[in-house]
Amino acid sequence: MLKPLYEKEDSLGTVHKNWDSEWWKKFLELSEDFTKTLVIRNVLTDAEVNQFNRWTLNALREVFLRQNTNYDFRLYIGSISQSFQYLKENLFIHLPKEDDTPHSWAERVFCNDEKFAIIMNSSEKFSDEMATKISEYYAPLIEIAGIPLRGINITIFIGNYGFTPLGIHKDHPGEHVMHLHLGPANKIMYNWDLDEYEKMTNNVQNNKNVTPLLAFADKYEFGTKDIYYMPWNKYHIGNTEEMSVGISIWFNHLPYRKLLPHMLRSFRRQIFSESNQSKIEFISPFLINNDDASNNSRKQFEQMIALFDEGMINPYNSFGTIIREVYEDYCISLSSNQGWNTVPISRDKDLVEGGQANMEDVHFSDDDEICAIKPFKIKYKKTGQNTISLFIRGNKIDLKFHPEIIKVIETINLSEPISVGELLERLNQSWPREVGVYILKMMYNLKGITLNKGEK
Ligand SMILES: [Fe+2]
Repeated sequence: MLKPLYEKEDSLGTVHKNWDSEWWKKFLELSEDFTKTLVIRNVLTDAEVNQFNRWTLNALREVFLRQNTNYDFRLYIGSISQSFQYLKENLFIHLPKEDDTPHSWAERVFCNDEKFAIIMNSSEKFSDEMATKISEYYAPLIEIAGIPLRGINITIFIGNYGFTPLGIHKDHPGEHVMHLHLGPANKIMYNWDLDEYEKMTNNVQNNKNVTPLLAFADKYEFGTKDIYYMPWNKYHIGNTEEMSVGISIWFNHLPYRKLLPHMLRSFRRQIFSESNQSKIEFISPFLINNDDASNNSRKQFEQMIALFDEGMINPYNSFGTIIREVYEDYCISLSSNQGWNTVPISRDKDLVEGGQANMEDVHFSDDDEICAIKPFKIKYKKTGQNTISLFIRGNKIDLKFHPEIIKVIETINLSEPISVGELLERLNQSWPREVGVYILKMMYNLKGITLNKGEK
């Protein structure tokens, strides 16, 4: 076991604070640049543990109310993953209460001796507060190490499942994971080196025959407030006999061989995003009996590539140029969301008492104050003489260019509260107020800024 990373004073007399850049540098040193498994003791405070438990319950609540399992939400009873129908009838009805802890909630929902595991992928989507807090923790690491090309995501593990129902497995290449342990029970992780494990077992994946292999594993035990880090190239399995909660944060490097398929997926999303679907028309069937077939096909081609214009990408560019554009937009988009793989739920889709929030009810007056949400920054890219793309929390928005837009973004990115009146005042007289308000409203809807209503 390694000694605690967090020390009030190091040998040089420097006081370290958890999650600051010195802390991360030490982490990189001890993990030998993400390559070694590591336990770091006593990183979280009691207040942080409580807060993360609360956000975990909020994320559950969001998933239950929306009945949304599209982001790979799973419930195992024993070792069996349950169907959507089962979740609807037996789990989603048990909304966590205000004063619940994950432990008290689970006691209410599951029978005493029942072994269960909840695995909630893309949890950053369902608790933006948790995502924002972890982005603060990770901001210095991102400054030092950059944003990994496959982004960052959160998976929450809840349960008393004993050995993880997935069996002994390895994660995808490049997926480095940091696990924040909330307890209350301890967890043990077992690691096997890739080659040794494959030799021993003849390469069995998701191996549930765990016990005979334990003697050959490296064992890492950790408790509430501790952190466990593991590189991707370990076979592993976790064990928590009693109820525990773990927040795992995935820092996903992209292998070279996955780069092109990944960019093509991003290209497809950018061009044929959901919002564009309604505008897509069918291309006329190709007439083979037409004498002037080449003329006909040319017309169809024009019709087809008109679809590309939706994505502001010039279809006459070479493939390489298009992919470069897609790559650039993908990276800017990821950086506007501090690396998170999913965009937050927009405010007009937030659940409020009595249904969904309504952006029509939101007004911006001069006395109101807006502020960027630290550490997120709004990014932009000038795309042509008269066009600009804004990147807000991972969303790309194409707008007509006014030089004033850049001034607005730069002022907002100072992350100081500023009154709506003052912000709009500072802008050029030619800037129509409605346009300014429209853009602020869009930033607010996408969770790029906060809004504090001023005195009337
Ligand atoms: Fe895993």
